[in-house]
Order: sequence, then C-alpha cells, then structure tokens
Amino acid sequence: MSDYMSDPISEKAVFAPGFMSGKTVFITGATSGIGAAMAVAYADAGARVIAAGLNPAGEHAPSHPNIELLDLDVTDTDALQSSIRAAEGLAVLINCAGISRNRDEYQLSQFDKVLSVNLRAAMVASETARPMLAKTGGSIINLASMFSTFGSKDRPAYSASKGAIVQLTLSLAEEYAAEGVRVNAIAPGWIDTPLGEGLKADKVASGRILGRTPMARWGLPEEVASTALFLSSPAASFVTGVTLPVDGGYLCTGA
Ligand code: NAI
Repeated sequence: MSDYMSDPISEKAVFAPGFMSGKTVFITGATSGIGAAMAVAYADAGARVIAAGLNPAGEHAPSHPNIELLDLDVTDTDALQSSIRAAEGLAVLINCAGISRNRDEYQLSQFDKVLSVNLRAAMVASETARPMLAKTGGSIINLASMFSTFGSKDRPAYSASKGAIVQLTLSLAEEYAAEGVRVNAIAPGWIDTPLGEGLKADKVASGRILGRTPMARWGLPEEVASTALFLSSPAASFVTGVTLPVDGGYLCTGA
C-alpha cells in the first residue's frame, strides 16, 4: 500500500492524515451543501481551501482554520479569473457552483443564467486554472448530476447544463492530459442539501426517488466529498474523463 493511503478498512482513515497538506484547493459553490462538505473534507486532509460562492456569511458556509471563504459570483468572469490566479500552489479545482430555476428555465433569461453558472463558469475556471494545475500535476472535478443521464421537462436548462458538463469533462480531459492535468466529474444522486430541500419536502416526489434508490435513502454531502478526495488523490492517478455516479445505486434501475 502506498503511503498516501493508510487504512482502507477503517471508516475515517482511508487517506493518511494530512495527505493534502501543502496543496491549495479552490472550490466554487463552497458556501453551502456539497461544496461546503468538500471544503471541510479537504481542510481536514490538510489542504489550504478557498471556498468561493454566494453568501459566505450565511448559515450553510463551512468553518475551519484551513478554509478561506470568498464572496464570488462565478458569472463575473473577471472576478472568477482573478481569484483563481491568486490561489498560489493550486492543486485541485472543483467546479461545484450550481443552480436550478425549475420551470422558470423556460424563460430565456433564466435559461441563460443557469447555463452561465453551471456550464460556462466551469469552462472559464478550468481554462484559468490550466497552467497552474499543469505546474502542480493537479486535477479538476466538475459536478454533473442524474440529469446528465436523462432529461427533465421541469428543468430544461439544468439538465442541458448537466449533460453538457459531462461532455466538457471528456473534452478537457483529452486536451489537458498532455499537460499532466486530470479532469473528472461526479454525478451525485439525491443528496440532502439546501438545493434539494423542496424536493425532499414533497412527499410524492421524495417517495418516488427513494423507491428507485436501492440504498433507499438520501445521500450525504460528505459522501460526495470523499469521492472528490479520491478522484483528486494519487489513488486515481490513471483516472481521467470519467463521470462517477455517487447515487446509492439510483442508475442501477430504469424506473
Ligand atoms: P446548494 O444550493 O446547497 O449550493 C450551491 C452552491 O453554489 C452555493 O455555495 C451557492 O452560493 C453557489 N452558487 C450558486 N450560484 C452561484 C454563483 N452565481 N456564483 C458563485 N456561486 C454560486 O447546492 P448543492 O446541492 O450543494 O449543489 C452543489 C452542486 O452539486 C451543484 O452543481 C448541483 O447541481 C450539484 N448536484 C446536487 C445534487 C443534490 O442532490 N443536492 C444532485 C446532483 C448534482
């Protein structure tokens, strides 16, 4: 067993303590939910984490001595680029900022907004981080979704953006490989975060989701975070261009 993994059986010590120390991690959408859990996981692993997003003083924002919160709107291209460029020693970029506007996405302005946050910002951030990650042998993780696999009449922009993020992951993985930069995505299933609060509260929709999930429960943000740790670690050194579902088996069944 290499030294970056200590005890693969124990619940907590999959990775050696502090295995991320000396590395800088930049996470968009890290002021809530999955991104916030990722920030804590990387900080616990010893990384310096820049946790960027809206409302960094809000109740869902992470708190840890290794985490620097940053008020950032990823649709502000200049601000996104300059904040990434300031992240010295960048080793991991996670494009986690995401929004859904449900049926309002039939309005063109809302359609554009969702694409801008969920897709365009990931391209801007990745291209900005590219030379920095090439220097550190770093990697990128994008956030896909179950809606990358199927459509949604109630979320046309969200599902389009999440389908496209898988294709962007493939394209950038191919392009960046020669520079030693890996690009992967995670497709979370139904995770208990502020984004899914409405869905969880809807007993009918929630029942349908749990009925199709073999593990019969909502996932935890921490379970997505641990997958990110794996994908960005040397344990995944030959893994690039994949979209890894973290969904309790939701995709095992067709209905
Ligand atoms: P959340 O609503 O708890 O957090 C979203 C984050 O994105 C927040 O930090 C928010 O500030 C940030 N954000 C939104 N607009 C932004 C903007 N313009 N600029 C900068 N940051 C912005 O959502 P959650 O559930 O943590 O989602 C995180 C990612 O995971 C999203 O990309 C989402 O699509 C994806 N995902 C979530 C699933 C779930 O079940 N919760 C399932 C599949 C994918």
